[in-house]
Amino acid sequence: MPALLEIDHLSKAFGGVAANVDISFDVEQGEILGLLGPNGAGKTSLFNSISGEVTPDEGEIRLDGRRISGLGPVACAEAGIARTFQVVRSFDSMTVLENVMVGAFSRHPGTHAAMRAATDVLTFCNLLERADRPAHALSPPEKRRLEVARALAIEPRIILLDEMLTGLTPTEAQEGVALVRKVQARGITILMVEHVMEVVLPLVSRAVVLDLGKVLTIGTPEEIVHDPEVIRAYLGEKYAPAA
Ligand SMILES: Nc1ncnc2c1ncn2[C@@H]1O[C@H](COP(=O)(O)OP(=O)(O)O)[C@@H](O)[C@H]1O
Ligand SMILES: [Mg+2]
Repeated sequence: MPALLEIDHLSKAFGGVAANVDISFDVEQGEILGLLGPNGAGKTSLFNSISGEVTPDEGEIRLDGRRISGLGPVACAEAGIARTFQVVRSFDSMTVLENVMVGAFSRHPGTHAAMRAATDVLTFCNLLERADRPAHALSPPEKRRLEVARALAIEPRIILLDEMLTGLTPTEAQEGVALVRKVQARGITILMVEHVMEVVLPLVSRAVVLDLGKVLTIGTPEEIVHDPEVIRAYLGEKYAPAA
């Protein structure tokens, strides 16, 4: 059986900038995999290829053994790939419910069915009492939860979370962590970019560390924090093992 998601020798350049260079790793069904690395390492670019916004120059991406790279965002969503954006992209003037219905329509073409499905997702994301508010009126953590709700509304197999906890207070981030665990408990596989190590490492079974567009290492949280290359390129001495 192939892994749920396979990244196979993927490369992508923008002009002269090599954003992703020969990246290969698998995401297993049901796991939470971390995608780490300094700013500019190529994390969001990789998400753009996986979600179909961008076509890789080389290599391919497979979901359940079937090539999805290059098919475009609609086909990737249809196949079961959802994402959130580092910069929140909800429709500001639409209500919270309408925002989630946009995703729900892809699985439930009728208005009533889409509304019912969207309402379920809002309940799951603890946003139901905000359903009739315009999206712009939400607080920052609520806006992050709305991004997750919009992604869940397409009923994905895998969800890509791009810095969904960045900029939140520690309490708000812990609420976000609880939501990530609930999503996993639903059987949805998660690939997440996050910078706060104390938050992300307890969540993930494994992490891939990118640096300068390349895979620096792949390992368990324990292996990652003790890897000299990762400490040098990303974590700094704070995470160096005690002598
Ligand atoms: N659409 C694009 N056009 C030009 N350069 C891009 C584009 N997307 C990403 N890049 C470049 O690719 C590199 C990796 O960026 P990115 O994937 O956003 O990194 P990360 O998310 O890890 O911070 C950066 O040098 C960035 O400027
Ligand atoms: Mg990014």
